[in-house]
Amino acid sequence: DWTSDVFIDATIDELKEKIGEDKVVMGLSGGVDSSVAATLIHRAIGDNLTCVFVDNGLLRKNEYEEVLDSYKHLGLNVIGVDAKQRFYDALAGKSDPEEKRKAIGNTFIEVFDDEAHKIQGVKWLGQGTIYPDVIESVSVNGPSATIKSHHNVGGLPDFMKLKVVEPLNTLFKDGVREVGRALQIPENIIGRHPFPGPGLAIRILGDITPEKVAILQEVDHIFIQGLKDDKLYDEVWQAGAILLPVQSVGVMGDERTYEQVVALRAVTSVDGMTADWVHLPYEFLGKISNEIINKVKGVNRVVYDISSKPPATIEWE
Ligand code: XMP
Repeated sequence: DWTSDVFIDATIDELKEKIGEDKVVMGLSGGVDSSVAATLIHRAIGDNLTCVFVDNGLLRKNEYEEVLDSYKHLGLNVIGVDAKQRFYDALAGKSDPEEKRKAIGNTFIEVFDDEAHKIQGVKWLGQGTIYPDVIESVSVNGPSATIKSHHNVGGLPDFMKLKVVEPLNTLFKDGVREVGRALQIPENIIGRHPFPGPGLAIRILGDITPEKVAILQEVDHIFIQGLKDDKLYDEVWQAGAILLPVQSVGVMGDERTYEQVVALRAVTSVDGMTADWVHLPYEFLGKISNEIINKVKGVNRVVYDISSKPPATIEWE
């Protein structure tokens, strides 16, 4: 019978055996998988594991600080890298969704490679790969696909030459969450909605500027905090806001306004391959819409996305 405690003990033994006195480097995303994988590796080899958490300037409001803090509380040896400007520079003027993804993927590789270089004698790359990622090896998600398509000519970045250790590659998401809870990883990490690697960049349709990121962070924060306050967060598989490249006419006092439109999206899903829009209560949507329009400067209209996947996708880009 599978229990998380048996899995944890066996995995820690295996990791000790496999890695020995070697050093491991690992990128953390703030998500469940990489956090649980890192915690397991840390239990096995302690501070021979160095974790890297990159602020790409495309995270949710306060997420970088909060997640870094959680990692430190878990005792992980984690280096936080503020690379916001590098990502904004790489994204400047790019509007095509795939070009944006490539720019982000390549910048992540450069930043991570710089950090990995600073660790003397590192031999292993830790990864939070889970079983569905293994079977779905044609997945377009995650940085690995980008790495493969962009670095098979002219040599791989140095960290890609490392041996790979993936302690969760036999588990499904539920198993990962169970293991994470048994490892006492805080619920704000374990119960977290999935969040795409390119972050808010694919929720800002068109080109990215720090100003647009700041607007979307405020909108997203109101929506997500509202879901949590009204105990709806756990009913939803993934939620977020999209900043549309559209202005609409509004009125405020005696003034005519001409400002941005945002769309809210909340879906239920099992694996992200198909999804249904969530029938959030009208009262909730009304409250959130008011709060966004009243508090976020530059936004005068909120719409709710009622498309399912297929034929729509979860993200808009
Ligand atoms: P779509 O929009 O394809 O999204 O229905 C399905 C799931 O994948 C996530 N997603 C991504 N994750 N890099 C990622 O790491 C990406 O480029 C990417 N695009 C979409 C999306 O958030 C949803 O959970």
